[in-house]
This record gives sequence, C-alpha cells and structure tokens, in this order.
Amino acid sequence: MIGLSKLKILALAAVTSSVRAASPRAENRDVVPGAYIIEFEDGQDAAGFRTQAEPAYETRMDLNFDLFKGVSIQLDDTDTAEERAAALASLPAVKNMWPVRVLHAPVLNERVGNRTLPAATGAGARLRRRQDGEVEPNYPHIMTQIDKVHEAGITGKGINIAVIDSGIDYTHPALGGCFGDNCLVTHGWDFIGDGSVWDGLQPDDDPQDTCHGHGTHVAGIISAGENEYGAIGAAPGASLSAYRVFDCNGQTTDEIILAAINRAYEEGADIITASLWGTSGWPSEPLSVAASRVVENGVPFTASAGNDGDIGLFWASYPAQGDGVASIASFDNTNKPYMMQSSQYIVNNDTVDDFVWEQKYPPFWDGTPRPLWVTGYDVNNTADACEPLPDNTPDLGEFHVLIRRGNCHYEVQAQNVADKGGRWFISYNNQTGQPDAFNLWNSEDLEGAAQVTKETGEAWVKALESGSEVVTILPDPFGPDAKVEIVFFEPDASATAVSLISGRGPTFEMGLKPQFGAVGGSIISTWLDHGFYVLSGTSVSCPMAAAAMALILEAKGPQEPRILESMLSSTATAQSYHNWDRQWQDWLAPPAQQGAGLIQVYDAIFSTSLVQPSGLSFNDTANRAEDLTITISNLDSDTEVSYEISHVPTHSLYSLRDDKLSHFHLDAEDVPDHAELTFSATRLTLGPGESAVVNVTATPPQNLDPERYPLWSGFITVNGTDDSALSVPYQGLSGSLYEAKTLTQEGIWMYNNLVLEGAEPDFDPKPENYTWTFTENPEEATESAALVLDVNWGSRQLDVNVVALGDYPGNTTVGIGGHNVVGPINELTGGSLHPRVGYQTWISDGVIADGIKLPEGRYQIVASALRIFGNATDPKDWIIVESVAFNVRWA
Ligand SMILES: *[C@@H]1O[C@H](CO)[C@@H](O)[C@H](O)[C@H]1NC(C)=O
Ligand SMILES: *[C@@H]1O[C@H](CO)[C@@H](O)[C@H](O)[C@H]1NC(C)=O
Ligand SMILES: *[C@@H]1O[C@H](CO)[C@@H](O)[C@H](O)[C@H]1NC(C)=O
Ligand SMILES: *[C@@H]1O[C@H](CO)[C@@H](O)[C@H](O)[C@H]1NC(C)=O
Ligand SMILES: *[C@@H]1O[C@H](CO)[C@@H](O)[C@H](O)[C@H]1NC(C)=O
Ligand SMILES: *[C@@H]1O[C@H](CO)[C@@H](O)[C@H](O)[C@H]1NC(C)=O
Ligand SMILES: *[C@@H]1O[C@H](CO)[C@@H](O)[C@H](O)[C@H]1NC(C)=O
Ligand SMILES: *[C@@H]1O[C@H](CO)[C@@H](O)[C@H](O)[C@H]1NC(C)=O
Ligand SMILES: *[C@@H]1O[C@H](CO)[C@@H](O)[C@H](O)[C@H]1NC(C)=O
Repeated sequence: MIGLSKLKILALAAVTSSVRAASPRAENRDVVPGAYIIEFEDGQDAAGFRTQAEPAYETRMDLNFDLFKGVSIQLDDTDTAEERAAALASLPAVKNMWPVRVLHAPVLNERVGNRTLPAATGAGARLRRRQDGEVEPNYPHIMTQIDKVHEAGITGKGINIAVIDSGIDYTHPALGGCFGDNCLVTHGWDFIGDGSVWDGLQPDDDPQDTCHGHGTHVAGIISAGENEYGAIGAAPGASLSAYRVFDCNGQTTDEIILAAINRAYEEGADIITASLWGTSGWPSEPLSVAASRVVENGVPFTASAGNDGDIGLFWASYPAQGDGVASIASFDNTNKPYMMQSSQYIVNNDTVDDFVWEQKYPPFWDGTPRPLWVTGYDVNNTADACEPLPDNTPDLGEFHVLIRRGNCHYEVQAQNVADKGGRWFISYNNQTGQPDAFNLWNSEDLEGAAQVTKETGEAWVKALESGSEVVTILPDPFGPDAKVEIVFFEPDASATAVSLISGRGPTFEMGLKPQFGAVGGSIISTWLDHGFYVLSGTSVSCPMAAAAMALILEAKGPQEPRILESMLSSTATAQSYHNWDRQWQDWLAPPAQQGAGLIQVYDAIFSTSLVQPSGLSFNDTANRAEDLTITISNLDSDTEVSYEISHVPTHSLYSLRDDKLSHFHLDAEDVPDHAELTFSATRLTLGPGESAVVNVTATPPQNLDPERYPLWSGFITVNGTDDSALSVPYQGLSGSLYEAKTLTQEGIWMYNNLVLEGAEPDFDPKPENYTWTFTENPEEATESAALVLDVNWGSRQLDVNVVALGDYPGNTTVGIGGHNVVGPINELTGGSLHPRVGYQTWISDGVIADGIKLPEGRYQIVASALRIFGNATDPKDWIIVESVAFNVRWA
C-alpha cells in the first residue's frame, strides 16, 4: 500500500477545526471479496442469468432499472471467486462485470476516535458579528452572483434536486422541519436503514441523516431557509429528495450508489448531485457510466471533482469523470468562516471576558480553570520559548502556558514548556487572521494544545505584565461544556483562488475535467443537532453548482444538460493560478484544475449570447482532434450582435518530471509555451436568434518534450457587442498516451519486508535466483517476500500474476505474454480500471490469491498493463514486465 499511504496520512492530517477535505473517497482496491456487479446484455434478465449461472449464487441487490439492468452478487467461496467470476463474465447474459468496491465517507478532522466536535448550534454558539454590528454577508453567493439572482426573485422554485449522500436531517428548522409533500425534503430512500454495509442493509423509506451530517450540510448549501448564520441555500426555493447511501461507519458500496443514481432518476429528480468520489480516471468506470446515462436521458448530474489536488494531473474521479457529468471544482471563499471554540477568561477574579480558541492535538481534555503563565512579555519576540526556559522558571504544572508563535517549531516550544513541568500549551498567533495549522503529535507530556488569536494573546500578555492574574478556561472541545462559534477573519490571501485540494484532470482518455467550479473553501451550512458547521472541499462546492442549475431551470425552463452546462461554463470567470506556496501567478489556472472557472450564475441566466460546448479537448498527438468547433448563438430576439473570437492561452504543464516516468505532486512544472489557435472566423455578426459554427484548429507548442507529456491549454474568448464576454476552456497533450510507460522493467522488484528484532531493514532488490524460504508458522518466519510495482499511468486493465518457470504440479493458465500463470495477485489489480498510483507493494508469505500455497519451485512475477487507448485483444497493446526469477522453499 505504499503508493496510497499518502492518502491515508492526509485523512489523519490534523485535529483542527479548519476543516480540509470532507468527502467520501474510495481507493480502487477496496473491494468486497467475492462480490460483483453484473450488467445484463440487452434482452437478458435476472431469471435468465440465474439459469445460466449454475451453481447458484447469493443476490446482494437487484439492480433492475430503466437505465441499468443487472444484479450484484456474492460468491461465497472467496478463494475461488476470481475463477468463478471469470466464468460468469463470459456467460451470454453478461454484458459487463465489475468487482464491488467500498467507498469511505470522510473522516472529519474534528474527530478524535469516535468523538466529534459539536456543531455550532443556535443555543450554544453564535456567529461572530462584524464590528459594525452587521451579520457577515453571504460571500459565496456574492462570488457566484447568486445574490443577484435571488434579488431577481429566482430561487429554484419548482425544481427538485436529488442528494445522494448520508441522508438529510429534515427536522432541522432551516431544512423545512418535516418530510413529505409540502416539505422541503419531499421524498427519498434510505438504502442502509438500521443495517450496515458489512452486516446487511435494511432499507426503508426514511432518509434521515441519523449519524453523519455530510448530507445535511450538502442539503443546506442547496436549500437552507432563513437562519441566524445568514447561511441561506443557493436555491432556497428548490425542493430536495434524499438518497441515503452511507452507513453509520461512513461506508457504502458501488452497487448502493448505482441504485441511488437510478432510483433518483426514476423518481423524477430534475437534477442529481453526488458529493462523493473515488479515484480512477476512466469514464467507463461503472458509476461514471451510470451518471452519464442519466445525463444522456436529460437529467443534469453534478459530482465532486475530488479533493486530491495535491496528487497532480490525471487524477480524475468517479462519477464526475463520466461523459456529460459536470465535474465540480472548488474555489476558496473570499472571507473564510472558521469554527472556533468559545470560552472565557477571568482577570483578577473580577472581569470575565469571552475569547475564541482553536483546539490542536492533544485536545484539552480537562476544563479546569488555571492561571496563565507567559514565557515572555515581548509580543514581538520571534524566538519565544525557542530555547530552554530560564532556571528561575517555576514548576509550570498548574499553569496554562502562553507562548508566542515563533520561528522555531511548535514542538521545540512545547518541549521547553514540558521540561518545566508544563502540561497545557497555548500558542498565540504572531499575525492577525486565522489560526496556524499545527499539532503536537510528539509531545507526549502535554495534555492540551491550543491557539488563540494575536489580539487575545497580546491582551493577556499586557494584563500579566501589569501584574494582573489571568485565569483561562479551555473546556474539553468534545465535552458537554464546549461551545463553538463561527468566526470570520480578514480575507485570506487565497480568496477566490482554486482550492489547492481541488482534484485535477484530465481523464486518461483526455476528457476535459473538471467542467467548472463553485465555492468550496470554508462554507457554513446546516449540521446534525439542528446546528451549523463549516466544511471545505469539492463536497461543498458541488451542491452549489447543482443549485445554480436549479436557478437556471426555474428562470429559463427545461434545458438539455449539455446546454445548461454550456450556459454555466461560457459565463464562468477563470482565475489565475495560485500555487502550493500560496503565491498568485500571472497566468490563468489551467482548465485541468478549474475547468471554465468560477460560475457566474446571473450571467448564465441573463446572457443574451451562448457558446457551446463547455470545453474542447484536442486529445494527444496520436489522436489529435482536427475538426473541433464552437457554436455561437445570439439568443436575443430583436438585436443583432457582433462577436470577436480570440484565445487566452495559459502556461503548459509538464505531466512528468525530468525522469520521464513520475508525475508531479503539488505544482507541476509550468512553462510559458502554449499552443496557437486559429479560427475559421475571428469576427462575425449574428441576427436575432441566429447561430454560427466556428472551426478551431490548434498548433501545439513546438519546443516542449513530448516524452514529458506537456498539457497545453487556455480559454477561447468570444466577446459580443451585447457586452457578453464568454469563454470556452480548451486543452491538448503533446506526446502519445498509447506510448506512455505505464510499467517499466526497472519498476518491478522484490525485497524482504520482514525486519527481525535488532536487524536493519533491507530494501535492496533481491537478485535473480534468490531463494525465498517460507514457513507455515508465522512465529518462525525469517523473511517475507514483497513485490514493488511502479504503475506510472492508469490502465484499463492491469494483471499481475505469479508465473511458473519450471515444472509445476498444479494447473496453470496461459497469460497474455504466453506465460504459465499459477495465479493472480488480486491485491494489486483491484479488478480493472486502474488509476496511476506511483508504486504499490504486495507482501506474501508464500500464499497467493485464491489460497494457492506456492509449491517449492522456480517462479517469477509478470505484470501486464493494457496501454491507454489500447485494444485488450491485441497482445502488442499490452506492456509486459517480468520480475527476476526466484525460488520458493518451505522450511
Ligand atoms: C466511543 O469509543 C469509546 C472507547 O472506544 C467507547 O467506550 C464508546 O462506547 C464509543 N461511543 C460510541 C458512541 O460509539
Ligand atoms: C483570586 O481568588 C483566589 C481564591 O479565592 C485567590 O487565591 C487569589 O489570590 C485571587 N487572586 C487575585 C489576583 O485576587
Ligand atoms: C512591536 O512591534 C510593533 C510593530 O513593529 C510596534 O508598534 C510595537 O511597539 C512593538 N512592541 C513592543 C513591545 O516592542
Ligand atoms: C509568524 O511566524 C511565522 C513563522 O512561524 C513567520 O513565517 C511569519 O512571517 C510570522 N508572521 C509575522 C507577521 O511576523
Ligand atoms: C482521444 O482519442 C481516443 C482514441 O481515438 C478516443 O478514444 C478518446 O475518446 C479521445 N478523447 C477525447 C476527449 O476526445
Ligand atoms: C469547418 O470544417 C468543416 C469540416 O472540416 C468544413 O467542411 C467547413 O468548410 C469548415 N468551415 C469553415 C468556415 O472553414
Ligand atoms: C473579451 O473580454 C474580456 C473581458 O472583458 C477581455 O479581458 C478580453 O480581452 C476581451 N477579448 C477580446 C478579444 O477583446
Ligand atoms: C539463474 O538460474 C538459471 C537456471 O538455473 C541460470 O540459467 C541462470 O544463469 C541463473 N542466473 C544467475 C544470475 O545466476
Ligand atoms: C486441474 O484441472 C482439472 C480440470 O479442470 C481438475 O479436474 C483438477 O482438479 C485440477 N487440478 C488441480 C490440482 O487443481
């Protein structure tokens, strides 16, 4: 799991209330053993399949829908499942077959163990008001012109949006308070009920958000009514339907989501939105296909672009990557709200005042009021407590210790405090604004860490310096005395930038993803316990885009999904690139990160001109699209409009590093070179209601290394005399993806994964003819064989097999390269539709998939990846790499 372990660390990143990613995501290889989704061939049904599929199997779910006819099944003997599944896949009734994957709901950062930070609720908490006494404006609505749309009286009336998520707490006063006709949440379905993904589903007709909150947050972003936080939904006139797919452990499976998508469609949703994702990069992935079919049948579908922006390009997610599905990026709020703990301090046993603080790790478990000790009165000291504290420092064991944020690491300050017996660490910020993100994972002696604002800290220092006593109370942030307040700081430097975490395209087939974005960086919305919560990510930008579509549908009547998408994309505003060092660049963020840009909903509704489609992809060198067009329409019924057509290129991004193998994380290397676009017309005039098609040809940048796959892109601009300034994002890739080195001979090797006590780990590749000695008794094991496989690009099919080199006592099959295959290594292949993962490992003590215990003998491991755009039945379309030969011996 080395390749994916980074993802895990991210999920654990911080115990802070400035929430990061908050969306479900799946790792491709998390599958339910022996479970498969089967789609039937046209004209086939469950009864026919059952007859063909003797002996019998257990049905997990009937997937019998207008747009998908199939079933999910469970094969009980997981040891032979792979073989049995292959046999089932070849039955006449079967059109497609996929393993059932598990998706995990977000591990919210505010969780420690099973304890979650309380929400800001009407009773316990409040919104920090501005100094002029006004409630903070709804910044996300201003950024997207949704405020202006509401002023025009458009609120999404008559439109129903289906929310596929953890259910909705419809008893929340801001969410209508009831369920059923005439309520805000009109209908829905709970696929989980009192059951769970692993213990069996108990579906029922009540999609209450019983134990999560994510779906309730999504619902509020769309439709929340008046509330004390000013967090009105983007389409407060729209009704909702709720499809609960997550169990209380935050898990769901593909088949449940597939059923939810189809059920929402059949129950009449006008728009479907899903704030969940898994990594794949392949539009033929089943959930992406399911969403695409809904769109083909006239219902727009919005899905999160994913929160893995740090992993770089070519990291499209499902279902957002589906053709026609609107993949939604996230932009940072102009003024970010923060959830802070709220408490009190007492000066000289007399005056009591409020302050806000942010809990860090370790959280304050003990809310005892304690006097404050400060390590220095210099509020400009950049090295406060960076050196051991002076000898005359008393035992700090009974104090809350206040330290200025400095140039040394917090852990250094914490250690110096702990060395004097200190147990409670309160940092005060050295600059105005949001708290700094830190945690003291290594400070075992501490029992609490927190940060307060610069202003609070300096006021305390001043009081202490003047000889006052300051007693602070920091209650257990998870306990009953905790109070949460939502606080606004000054606009952040990243305001309006694409959120760094926003997932990046394109798909491996060069589909342009995402389409556009809405605001997802720090959004207040409804939560469980009738409270409010601040979350960030494409989970929260996605519902805003769905709501924007509802506003357009109310204003303009029914629209084809692709036209609706073009209305939003052509009027979106592209933002400049904001890099991982948080520096703005003087070039536009590429469409692979922002699509068309941040949606401008008023313009989308009232523009009298339209450009379609929502984006152009010139594909790679081998499949260069030569005949792309845009269509410009003058929608005005009585005015002639003249248009000027041009383009604004942005920097090209290299997909691969200098080594021509590995992808960039965080920022890709950018170069100013760009393509030149030519148009069959650069000016044209259209009468009322007329449309014209303009041909677009691209000449790629000439001086870039195609072996590093530079992605070039920009925006076609169409400016009209009706004051319209429309644009269409475009992209193309230099290099041939078919030639991409998904696997390399250097990228497959074996090492001993077992480190015996007192010994040094040995990651050196084992030489040819190495003999692995396995033992039945794990206690006696001296080594365990690990395979490392670099998977540099995605592959629609990846097979990794143990191959016999000598005589083999059991049965073998013939592999793609004519190899004598003993059995597959399922853990590495995850079925099919593989994302790029850098490298991954597999560890074995002599037993491989299907329970095969390797007999003594000579073997190698052979990995085969289908080339991008390759044909699985053509052997030359596979890249095949072989490990060195090894021997197996049993002790
Ligand atoms: C939370 O975890 C603790 C300790 O693991 C356990 O005692 C408690 O019952 C759990 N609470 C819930 C609500 O699951
Ligand atoms: C505050 O009250 C406590 C207990 O009543 C007392 O010990 C302490 O000296 C008082 N502090 C000040 C500054 O008056
Ligand atoms: C700290 O620095 C600020 C700004 O430079 C200055 O105004 C202030 O007087 C300094 N305070 C102290 C205590 O030196
Ligand atoms: C605050 O401290 C950090 C170091 O932790 C430093 O990078 C930053 O510049 C400081 N800010 C101010 C305003 O001094
Ligand atoms: C790129 O070309 C391949 C091969 O023809 C095709 O399958 C794929 O759909 C194309 N991608 C786009 C975005 O047109
Ligand atoms: C646009 O391209 C099409 C197909 O290549 C061609 O038939 C047509 O003449 C072109 N139109 C213009 C205005 O060049
Ligand atoms: C089109 O309008 C935009 C926004 O007003 C402007 O930045 C751009 O330069 C214009 N393009 C042309 C070709 O006039
Ligand atoms: C590995 O063993 C094979 C077969 O016994 C032999 O032909 C080959 O030379 C050996 N390779 C090495 C590097 O010893
Ligand atoms: C090999 O395959 C045959 C025919 O399918 C089967 O009867 C036999 O049991 C298999 N042998 C082993 C060792 O699996």
